[in-house]
Amino acid sequence: MSESMQGLKRSHRCTEVTGANVGQTVTVMGWVNKSRNKGGVIFVDLRDRSGMLQIIFEEANCGAESFEKASTLRSEFVIAVTGEVAKRAGAVNDNLATGDIEIIAKDIRILSESDVLPFPVEENSKTKEELRLKYRFLDLRRPDIQRNIMLRSKVTTEVRAFLAKEGFLEIETPILCKSTPEGARDYLVPSRVHPGCFYALPQSPQLFKQLLMCSGYDRYFQIAKCFRDEDLRADRQPEFTQIDMELSFVDIDDVIDVNERLIKHMFKEAIGIDVPTPIRRMTWKEAMERYGSDKPDLRFGIEICDISDIVKDSEFGVFADAVKSGGTVRGINADGLGELPRKKIDALTDFVKGYGAKGLAYIAIASDGTRKCSFAKFMKDEELDAIVEKMGGKPGDLLLFISDGKKKFVLETLGALRCHIAEIKELTKKDDYCFVWITEFPLLEWSEDENRFVAMHHPFTMPMDEDIPLIDTDPGAVRAKAYDIVLNGVELGGGSVRIHQTDIQEKMFEVIGLTKEEATEKFDFLLRAFKFGVPPHAGLAFGLDRLLMLMTGADSIRDVIAFPKIKDASDLLSDAPGEVAPQQLAELGIQIVSKDEEDAQ
Ligand code: AMO
Ligand code: AMP
Repeated sequence: MSESMQGLKRSHRCTEVTGANVGQTVTVMGWVNKSRNKGGVIFVDLRDRSGMLQIIFEEANCGAESFEKASTLRSEFVIAVTGEVAKRAGAVNDNLATGDIEIIAKDIRILSESDVLPFPVEENSKTKEELRLKYRFLDLRRPDIQRNIMLRSKVTTEVRAFLAKEGFLEIETPILCKSTPEGARDYLVPSRVHPGCFYALPQSPQLFKQLLMCSGYDRYFQIAKCFRDEDLRADRQPEFTQIDMELSFVDIDDVIDVNERLIKHMFKEAIGIDVPTPIRRMTWKEAMERYGSDKPDLRFGIEICDISDIVKDSEFGVFADAVKSGGTVRGINADGLGELPRKKIDALTDFVKGYGAKGLAYIAIASDGTRKCSFAKFMKDEELDAIVEKMGGKPGDLLLFISDGKKKFVLETLGALRCHIAEIKELTKKDDYCFVWITEFPLLEWSEDENRFVAMHHPFTMPMDEDIPLIDTDPGAVRAKAYDIVLNGVELGGGSVRIHQTDIQEKMFEVIGLTKEEATEKFDFLLRAFKFGVPPHAGLAFGLDRLLMLMTGADSIRDVIAFPKIKDASDLLSDAPGEVAPQQLAELGIQIVSKDEEDAQ
């Protein structure tokens, strides 16, 4: 039977009781992690969000009634215990913060009982994630998840404190918005009052934060929920949280400066890590050429090397033809893997084929200096020597090459292979934090699907001053005042200086193929605001979930979100999304066409 609080007050959380309390009477409350009945003595590990505490029940101390109650305890019962703090009589448990003390119980209340659990509540659970997410309320009791969720709270508290001190105002922006294409797919919400019309959930507060700048709130921030209907991965959720900010009267360096100090503050306060500043900066072009990625993991080297010049006139058609068709041949030195068995090299070949590469050529240099080369029969010795020299190949190294008519493809595939090799070589330590700012992104990206330029960041991003004339002549070459903050190969955040001049904005819309009418229709409120006095402004948003994932060393952002969704965007706990009553649909003027009916038409 469950008892109630009836005026009983908790005096301490479990691990707030320390050796300093020995001899005092305390009242603790929490969940029974484990209970062992050893005849005349019952040992209970009591757990709350702070940690664990050992409680001892002996009839001589707690009386017959309490002892009887204690003997009925099972895992996850919720209890309140009053007792005296004592030095541990048995062996000290060094694994527990409270390992040198115990509570000699005098009184117990069973506040509620628990059914038999579907899986044990334990650190580093081996239970399948689907089952854990179905019972997320139990999963959230696991000490490791609790630490993640508590750290998340600590981070947002520190962000608020830091930004408030820097003069930022926390302002909320709407969740029911107008759909503005560009970017990911919107989540739509039907309007009852305006049948046939829909709100969109915000992909980010982008337009509203720019409006706030127009209205004079010169430093804004928000811990903002964002919604994007896109394919999910380990670091992507359909709803996620940004630390979002915007500043007026600033340029790139001002945004970078305040954010470096924010990063320093967050890492120091949350996990005790000193982030050295200034954080390294690298242009997008350099990141792509050297690391094959716009979010390079700089915890290791393994840089990409161009050997096109050496092989362009060789007899190896695969390489020579790639260069002649305007492509390239590049490689990486997987140093130390020269003796990798053939089977494992084949596995690397399969890895790059998964990205669409036609093959993976290699030169394996054994420790005695002898070479095995998959394309040796087509190459002169001098050519091979030149390749090995350019790649810095030494005995014990494995040189891997990809050629293709498309340079971007070669770089990105080698970029992925480079990270794969680093994993094999165990070069990616989770507590090694390598930050880098990626700058000078291209303003525009050619979309093969749409046969037009699209904005790489978003269409309000300012071109670099010296590249503005190129918008008319060579749009693909225009660099943007956009920047990403990257940590260990993960894009942690991104932002840009915004366009605040109507003529540049119009040019931008023109080059991405929006007519004046279309632009007005889509972005009317922003463009209208820009006519009435707009300060130069810039901003940035961090992905809070990704930040926590990296701070905690979690493998997925699901481990740092209280109620995450799975790959198909459903919530296993509440079973969302779900069908709704016909009445609700009728009110909204919505008729559902089933997939079968649609296919039949
Ligand atoms: P962007 O689209 O780059 O910029 O988003 C900023 C950061 O948000 C995180 N993020 C995500 N996290 C989890 N799940 C997702 N589906 C997801 N999508 C993005 C990333 C990313 O770096 N308004 C601009 C910012 C600006 O220009 O000020 C924006 O939203 O960590
Ligand atoms: P082959 O003559 O087809 O046996 O190819 C010789 C080597 O070149 C093999 O190791 C192939 O995996 C590799 N190879 C084939 N196509 C490519 C390519 N596009 N880039 C790099 N290596 C390739």
